[in-house]
Amino acid sequence: MAIRLRIAQWKRTALFAAVVAALGLVNLVGTPGGALAAGTLPCDIYGSAGTPCVAAHSTTRALFGSYGGRLYQVRRASDGGTRDIGVLGAGGYADAGAQDSFCAGTTCVITVIYDQTSRHNDLTPAPPGGVGGQDDPVPADALPITAGGHTVYGASFSGRMGYRDNSTSGIATGSQPEGMYMITSGTHFNSGCCFDYGNAETNNLDNGNGHMDAIYFGTLCWFSPCHGSGPWVMADLENGLFQSDSGGSENSGYTGNRNPFVTAMLKNNGTNYFALKDGNGQSGGLSTVYSGPLPTSRSGYSPMHKEGAIILGIGGDNSNSAIGNFFEGVMTSGVPSDAAENAVQANIVSVGYGAPSPVGAGTLNPGSTISLRATTACCTTRYIRHQNDNAVTSEISSGSSSLDKNDGTWIVRRGLANNSCVSFESRNYPGDFLRHSNYQLYRQPMDGSALFRADATFCPQAGKSGSGTSFASYNFPDRFIRHYNNNVYIASNGGSHDFDASASWAADVTWAVSSPWTP
Ligand code: AHR
Repeated sequence: MAIRLRIAQWKRTALFAAVVAALGLVNLVGTPGGALAAGTLPCDIYGSAGTPCVAAHSTTRALFGSYGGRLYQVRRASDGGTRDIGVLGAGGYADAGAQDSFCAGTTCVITVIYDQTSRHNDLTPAPPGGVGGQDDPVPADALPITAGGHTVYGASFSGRMGYRDNSTSGIATGSQPEGMYMITSGTHFNSGCCFDYGNAETNNLDNGNGHMDAIYFGTLCWFSPCHGSGPWVMADLENGLFQSDSGGSENSGYTGNRNPFVTAMLKNNGTNYFALKDGNGQSGGLSTVYSGPLPTSRSGYSPMHKEGAIILGIGGDNSNSAIGNFFEGVMTSGVPSDAAENAVQANIVSVGYGAPSPVGAGTLNPGSTISLRATTACCTTRYIRHQNDNAVTSEISSGSSSLDKNDGTWIVRRGLANNSCVSFESRNYPGDFLRHSNYQLYRQPMDGSALFRADATFCPQAGKSGSGTSFASYNFPDRFIRHYNNNVYIASNGGSHDFDASASWAADVTWAVSSPWTP
């Protein structure tokens, strides 16, 4: 396994070196902090190619080899104090340990995502707009991942969360050319409007066709056809999410991207051309979704009327019903070359974005991956898994599909509402947790609210049947995670619901914390 990993890593590095060499970039030297040396990170690549970054945002890493400043600011609930989170070293990864210490025993949200260019195009929670009200900041700890071998945090957006900067410097306006990319996830998306990163109106209103130029990712099929089930990379050019000049997809082979890390790219020369690209952020190159004219059958897009604000997680008029994940993104001045984009993708792959490294397995220690097996005599081969967003129990065995095994595996996290208890994050849907609602359990994206945190926190204690483990709900402490007719609830012993029935209650609320089906 270790050898296979090392070969995969070598292949990534070799591919990256080849692309960098082809671009004439130098200084591909590893540093002790795991960072690549100056000259090799996305904004170095775009800069060397003549299309410099005018905005660079990330909660995970530096995007210039020389950047050693702050990445984002967190605010904690206990006293309202704030702290900037920087990188471990120039060109390196986020100092997530600083966040963990500052937020210990309380909860934190991300109040600023700093621009790493010298232009200070910093993003803060978006103000009310034509559609949505004031947006909330994202929770700071909902999306732990690894990058460059370090544990860092992505930004996990639920509805009513988004960021904006209406007074920027250097961002394209009118028909000026620009490019952009973001790393997002094909595991956390919806069809709400609009999970965007890019150029938008400066007054939070829909000012008409062509007043936006942002990457969209999700399943909102604005113009048909959309092929497959998505989610798709599209261009939000205002009053439409475009996959081509005609609106709908002209690429029947593009059915969406469900990888946990997705590279989404857009470039737009402002007068008559735009291109969309899609890639797996963990391996391989980019594929072109569309490259061709700007829309002409609808007025206003050719030429464009860009306004130069920056949005993240929302639409141009602050439509804020979308969900999504964000790890990094940049905007450039000028239309980047294909070679520069390929080098950026190779750099992204070289980072080795991945799921958090499990810390042990089969235990309730934070970071451990586990599966939860029922112990009632009927059901000792059934495990808690998610299916269609519900928590259920189903039979899982060594011969089960990898989907079933993934769905039946959970990562133990410190309790979102109380860190002496635990929360269970989905193995294959990073940022989604097991939570109860109306006493039933579901897999849902963590929205940062106090209610979600409480609903997703469970306190382990000795199993009620005399062995194993029972999990008391944090906010309903006389209710325990129970299976009943293969659904999963928080149930009290002899309460008013059918799933509170006393018969078999002790066995049904007792679980075997087991080795994970997907380590
Ligand atoms: O273009 C799609 C969306 O339409 C924009 O993001 C928003 O401003 C409008 O509602």
